[in-house]
Amino acid sequence: MWPDTEAHAAAVQQLSLLPPLVFAGEARELTERLADVATGKAFLLQAGDCAESFDTSADSIRDRLRVILQMAVVLTYYTGVPVVKVGRIAGQFAKPRSSDTETIDGLELPSFRGHIVNDVGFTADERIADPERLLTAYNRAAATLNLLRAFTKGGFADISRVHQWNREFVANSPAGQRYEVIAEEIERAVRFMSACGINSETLTDLRQVDFYTSHEALLLDYEESLTRLDSLTGDWVDCSAHMLWIGERTRQLDGAHVAFLRGVANPLGCKIGPTATPDDVTALCEALNPDHVPGRLTLITRMGATKVVDSLPPLLSAVADAGHPVVWVCDPMHGNTFTADDGRKTRHFEDVLAEVSGFFAAHRFAGTHPGGVHLELTGDDVTECLGGGTDLVTADLGSRYETMCDPRLNGSQSVDLAFRVAELLRNGAR
Ligand code: PEP
Ligand code: CO
Repeated sequence: MWPDTEAHAAAVQQLSLLPPLVFAGEARELTERLADVATGKAFLLQAGDCAESFDTSADSIRDRLRVILQMAVVLTYYTGVPVVKVGRIAGQFAKPRSSDTETIDGLELPSFRGHIVNDVGFTADERIADPERLLTAYNRAAATLNLLRAFTKGGFADISRVHQWNREFVANSPAGQRYEVIAEEIERAVRFMSACGINSETLTDLRQVDFYTSHEALLLDYEESLTRLDSLTGDWVDCSAHMLWIGERTRQLDGAHVAFLRGVANPLGCKIGPTATPDDVTALCEALNPDHVPGRLTLITRMGATKVVDSLPPLLSAVADAGHPVVWVCDPMHGNTFTADDGRKTRHFEDVLAEVSGFFAAHRFAGTHPGGVHLELTGDDVTECLGGGTDLVTADLGSRYETMCDPRLNGSQSVDLAFRVAELLRNGAR
């Protein structure tokens, strides 16, 4: 993939000398949180960009965090269980492609593989795989993580700011107005607790949130060079993010991705698409979590709205029968992508919701816990997915279609989805 093999070797060598981005103890803590998700005592919200850009602004990072915090408030308020927050952020730079090349008007060029490899523009120069990008990815991930740590620990995430997380364009949407009502109630509760002597000065949990990072572990040279020995436990930990997942295209049992990730102690995810058989899935559980550690393995199912009700129950039963304590999470995005009449890749809000609903139904049927959702979203007011509270239509797609890869829910669609998912959960879907 890298034409300049010397530059690639030098970049990887340099990465191996740089400080870790996360600490082993944080990854262990996330495993413990996920163990609670596996037994239904917490809910996982894993969300962020499809492909992060090297050009992401500080405002855009803040707004993505803001919408995730809003969604978590809605889910917690309705369900009464803690929400474990994991971003697809600070390292989600590599994209798997189904084809090595892309042809436009007779010109064939290498496919865009994410900013960690090449650029999105359609010129031969921009599509060259440049190893220098591995180092830029590390630096961008470090800067993003630094900002996230500042926001989540430095006052921005204080529960007393619950109103201020509602950006104007979200607040003007039906979902944003519903959010205002909850925010008002929470503020009242916060004032009451404060009058009783409990406030964000006396209780750090009101002032800070725990926010973890994750990305698809696609480029194994990058992941390996950031893998370090944890002096406390003697385990190898991939310090590029707290949680790493294996994509739908690279989950072969005898493949390099499974071989690498089984050797690191981080909590792991694995995407499971509609072609996976019960034997495939139990074999993956055995390979990735042979000791049956609760919270170690999250299976992220992405079946498509029309397939989920039939495809999922046999997998849920097989894993339960094999005694594997997995976290089941629904990715309602990747099985529901289609090309709109204007030629743009899109997803419909109702399909996304239908897959989540089918996921809950499958778990009810199998007697297992629906652990959470895995979403592609942005806090920005983009027009990439159809439907949702403001009912985006095909003619709107062109106005702010900004994704470098898959279509993402915008801020108000995300808050809308949180309400709809919360209602499904409250109405006995768990
Ligand atoms: C993704 O999560 O962006 C992705 C490519 O998903 P999948 O591996 O499930 O297709
Ligand atoms: Co995607």
